[in-house]
Amino acid sequence: MTTSRRTLLAATATTAGTLAAGLSAAPAAHAAPGRRPAREFFGRLADGTRVDRWTLANGGTRMAVLSYGGIVQSLELPDLRGRYANVSLGFDNLEDYVALSPYFGALIGRYGNRIAGGTFTLDGTAYQLPLNNGPNSLHGGTQGFDKRVWDVEPFVSGPDVGLTLRYVSGDGEMGYPGALSVRVDYTLTGGGDWRIDYRATTTRPTVVNLTSHVYFNLAGEGSGDVYDHELRIAAARYTPVDATLIPTGELAPVAGTPFDFRRSKPIGADIRVSHPQVLFGQGIDHNFVLDKGITRTPDNIVTVHEPRSGRTMRIATTEPGLQFYSGNFLDGSFAGTSGRVYRQGDGFCLETQHYPDSPNHPSFPTTVLRPGETYRSTTVHSFA
Ligand code: GLA
Repeated sequence: MTTSRRTLLAATATTAGTLAAGLSAAPAAHAAPGRRPAREFFGRLADGTRVDRWTLANGGTRMAVLSYGGIVQSLELPDLRGRYANVSLGFDNLEDYVALSPYFGALIGRYGNRIAGGTFTLDGTAYQLPLNNGPNSLHGGTQGFDKRVWDVEPFVSGPDVGLTLRYVSGDGEMGYPGALSVRVDYTLTGGGDWRIDYRATTTRPTVVNLTSHVYFNLAGEGSGDVYDHELRIAAARYTPVDATLIPTGELAPVAGTPFDFRRSKPIGADIRVSHPQVLFGQGIDHNFVLDKGITRTPDNIVTVHEPRSGRTMRIATTEPGLQFYSGNFLDGSFAGTSGRVYRQGDGFCLETQHYPDSPNHPSFPTTVLRPGETYRSTTVHSFA
């Protein structure tokens, strides 16, 4: 979208709050553009801890974020005609996030994706993590960063508005060595981009792989499956997995497989091809080896376009990998934010990351962080 069109939409966003009312949980995700994010009460955890919901808006993009898990509870974007919809799957209440959520919208850590057998060796010491995904540890274990209450501070900086989220993960938490101080900035730029900057430091050598687990449906959450979305991923290789979704270590070519998204194609195009890797994932649930590799500044890696609404999202990242998950394990067993049931393929995740199980694959880019170093990762989502 051109700057002028986004500026126009931003200018109308305050009066357009009603447009979003039927699509978002509470009628509040329309803080005035460029203004300081607003805080409201969202709920209480079983132990009494208060959870806040922050709303922010800029450049035509509106977002609501929970202090619990750093969860993006709603992400509202205009379509070609300026009509807003919430394009992220989630819930309208805290209880469902706690009891049901398959990481909807959440910040993931200390290690995003799987670690085989929940174990790895670092500097000669073996560590054991909780197993929460068959024989493996997934997304930081049973109480990962997605289930922690983050300290949240709003900021306004020039044309940008945003939230700084902080969490200190104790030495030994979920089996990981070292106290890890994590800072994540969610920024909505004046042009309506959503930028995520991750930073972390540690007191002892550890492994880190942070990501965001938003489930997108650019036609609007609860509107059906995402198979018509046209997806392009700049990756000529991917990491094939075993039956428990652990990489074999091979970097295999996507050419001639359902994993070839080098030219834009509908997400559903090859999802029913009887390829052994598709069967393992019950669809696509794989890490793509981004052609650009690790970069100091975010490089474009993804374009995804939803033809009916005309919405387009681009993703740029500094990371070397991307987990594309086609919402395979959504099974119709619960309803989401707008009260519609989520079924298989009703949302997709594009998780920028280092490769899964890197601590057990010395040939993969390292995920080790040592005292004195700073972990840095940036991902930018832009919308049109
Ligand atoms: C990740 C995994 C998937 C699945 C989802 C949550 O994306 O790769 O296999 O576990 O999280 O359901």
